[in-house]
Amino acid sequence: MRPPCLRAYGMDRPFTFINSAMSADGKISTKKRRQVKISGNADFDRVDELRATSDGVMVGIGTILADDPSLTVKSEERRKRRVADGKDENPARIVVDSKARIPLTADVFKKGVGKRIVIVSKAAPTEKVEALKEKADVIVAGDHEVDLKEMARGLKKRGIDRLMVEGGATLNWAMARAGLVDEISVFVGNIIIGGREAPTFMDGEGISDRADAIELELKKYEPMDEGIVLTWRVRSSDSRPTTA
Ligand SMILES: NC(=O)c1ccc[n+]([C@@H]2O[C@H](COP(=O)([O-])OP(=O)(O)OC[C@H]3O[C@@H](n4cnc5c(N)ncnc54)[C@H](OP(=O)(O)O)[C@@H]3O)[C@@H](O)[C@H]2O)c1
Repeated sequence: MRPPCLRAYGMDRPFTFINSAMSADGKISTKKRRQVKISGNADFDRVDELRATSDGVMVGIGTILADDPSLTVKSEERRKRRVADGKDENPARIVVDSKARIPLTADVFKKGVGKRIVIVSKAAPTEKVEALKEKADVIVAGDHEVDLKEMARGLKKRGIDRLMVEGGATLNWAMARAGLVDEISVFVGNIIIGGREAPTFMDGEGISDRADAIELELKKYEPMDEGIVLTWRVRSSDSRPTTA
């Protein structure tokens, strides 16, 4: 069953949440920007359920180039459940990639059944965009970088009502700053990674004044594995879907 927060009534964009795993010091990978195991089996299972109940799972091109994730639903039972509900086995895999840098051999293209959507800007080379069209639905939004609001409207039009954002640091910030994020869930694990170059849960430009902070409301906290999952509602998103 789909979570109740799906009822994003009257919005021209999907209900959107970010899910991430971070170390106790807020890092989401190492200073070499390599993926690192932060959570355990219970959290992997929680994330799998989130994917399985979403229409789209989105990452930035930085994450594709660093980790080459497939973003598939891992549990066969959940994939079967999706098919029984008339959906593809996997939610649409969505990549935000202004310059169409994604390799045509990326795992999101190779692994799992389901739609792929790549969002590029007008600055993306035409030849690469044409090649990508063989692998994915390509949305052009923005001149030099992806216009996230236009992208969100385009995704909604393509039937993405519930969108899960899985990083990385730059995209998380940009989505939240644009007011496009309704909820955040983050697993905080029992390791310290350190390093000023290591990406944090949200990088990007950041704020200078407290008044510009993105305000959150704590909805839930749940001990899991050897850490905790915190779920926040974003107070200052551009519209607030009803959470039952
Ligand atoms: N622990 C976790 O849960 C987790 C999850 C995911 C990723 N990660 C880690 O996060 C790191 C990758 O993060 P990242 O910050 O380097 O990359 P990212 O957030 O995945 O991707 C950022 C890129 O997206 C593109 N982009 C296009 N339009 C944009 C817009 N309007 N706003 C922002 N970005 C836009 C930009 O590249 P172009 O200009 O080329 O388009 C930008 O550099 C990796 O180390 C990975 O392991 C950790």
